[in-house]
Amino acid sequence: MPNSQTNFNETFENDLDYPRLGSVSFRRGTLTDNQEANWNEHWPHLGKELSKELIDVPAWFNRQDAPTILEIGSGTGTSTAAMAPLEADTNIIAVELYKPGLAKLLGAVVRGEIDNVRMIRGDGVEVLTHMFAPESLDGVRIFFPDPWPKARHHKRRIIQSGVLNLIASRLKPGGVLHVATDHADYAQWIEELVDVEKQLEYMGWPWQECPQLTDRQVITKFEGKGLEQDHTIREFLWRRK
Ligand SMILES: C[S@@+](CC[C@H](N)C(=O)[O-])C[C@H]1O[C@@H](n2cnc3c(N)ncnc32)[C@H](O)[C@@H]1O
Repeated sequence: MPNSQTNFNETFENDLDYPRLGSVSFRRGTLTDNQEANWNEHWPHLGKELSKELIDVPAWFNRQDAPTILEIGSGTGTSTAAMAPLEADTNIIAVELYKPGLAKLLGAVVRGEIDNVRMIRGDGVEVLTHMFAPESLDGVRIFFPDPWPKARHHKRRIIQSGVLNLIASRLKPGGVLHVATDHADYAQWIEELVDVEKQLEYMGWPWQECPQLTDRQVITKFEGKGLEQDHTIREFLWRRK
């Protein structure tokens, strides 16, 4: 959601160990009193801030051996919360920079008594780098990533070869990367990168036997906006070799 009103107040750019072009920053946002109270009560057990500590996923979800999927850029989490009950046996970790978006998801999780969603506030690339061990994830989802349409901003796009390499390293063999976009130019950009990461086998779309396709039973907020404008939705699936 890049826009001209964006206020960048914190940045981890200089802290980034993983090679990546461009930078992302947290965006300021205001919570309602209700959201603030909810945040204070529930964030400590359902959320984490970006840190350099590896996450003990079974302890966080209080269950052993459940598959774990990281969703990068969950936005307001509307679809994350709606999908979670359809995949109750899977641990879903939503990563987002935008605090009001996380506050909205947190509210939905608490109200809906959804127990398979946790949240991290931070840059998904940093989160993957520092908070997850190699071969620890069953899936990574990136739905409707910011398209950064201007050519001089393309380097900020999250789908690029270095990030694909990082994602591949964090996926278990057989793990799935799923990306969707409604932005024609971004789709073309991704198409050019589908085979760039040798640890990822591009499965295209549709991939009938994909183990994770519960994730597209619910339309995301940005997908809805794209559909209203008659945009074509493009999906990309890879399997970690
Ligand atoms: C266009 S919105 C899509 C939100 C949601 N996936 C949807 O489909 O409705 C992209 C979201 O990704 C978040 N975002 C962008 N770069 C990110 C990053 N590096 N790490 C985590 N979130 C990021 C933005 O704050 C924004 O909320």
